[in-house]
Amino acid sequence: MDVTKTIKWIKVDLYNEMSTVAANIFIKQLNEKPDSVLGFATGASPIGFYKQLVHHCQNGEISFSQVVSFNLDEYIGVPANSQMSYKTYMKEYLFDHVDIKDDNIYLPNSQTEDLVQECTDYEENIKKINGIDLQLLGIGVNGHIGFNEPGTPFDSLTHIVELSESTRMVNSRYFNSIEDVPTHAITMGIQSIMNTKAIVLLAFGESKRDAINRLRSGIVTEEFPASCLLNHENVTIIYGGF
Ligand code: F6R
Repeated sequence: MDVTKTIKWIKVDLYNEMSTVAANIFIKQLNEKPDSVLGFATGASPIGFYKQLVHHCQNGEISFSQVVSFNLDEYIGVPANSQMSYKTYMKEYLFDHVDIKDDNIYLPNSQTEDLVQECTDYEENIKKINGIDLQLLGIGVNGHIGFNEPGTPFDSLTHIVELSESTRMVNSRYFNSIEDVPTHAITMGIQSIMNTKAIVLLAFGESKRDAINRLRSGIVTEEFPASCLLNHENVTIIYGGF
């Protein structure tokens, strides 16, 4: 069987087109199930997508009032209110502009003393609510999803990770220098991502060409974390710009 066929591939020419296609999938989900549990990612890929969700929410076409959200990951060692935290990113691009309830927003809390317990609790919270209905993902140039770097076991749940040099280098564009980029993060694991009911992955631009081609090659290996998605039964990949 050609495993790549289990994935729905959508090729786009423009970044905005990718954002619209992705937003439409989430809008449909919210229309069908207003109390959906949504999984969110940060980074450059979903910014246009979040802008569209905000626009549709402010127009009264969708509501987040019953939504529960879980973010994939958060840096360790960055204060929650810092410009660099993923919490700040989510507030800036989505949460501060839609009607989601504060109590329904989950991001890994990297400020707590017991980070190992936080990982267990995060996983428990996802389980308690019967899992994530629709998960948004980006992909790293090294194939990471969340902060699951190459070599992460496919059976991993939410855990603490050491970021690879390549990921710190790529992410240093948001910091003053690479020394300022955190070395560790909390991330949902590969198994946590595989447990979600449906997945939308965004990949746009020349820098994502190799990662997407590698995914298309159909080889499933822990050395290329995103390849786990070839074993998931409901994945849509929206890609282009190369
Ligand atoms: C972010 C995350 C990462 C990014 C990936 C791609 O929450 O989990 O896996 O999705 O690094 O980042 P961009 O979109 O900036 O290329």
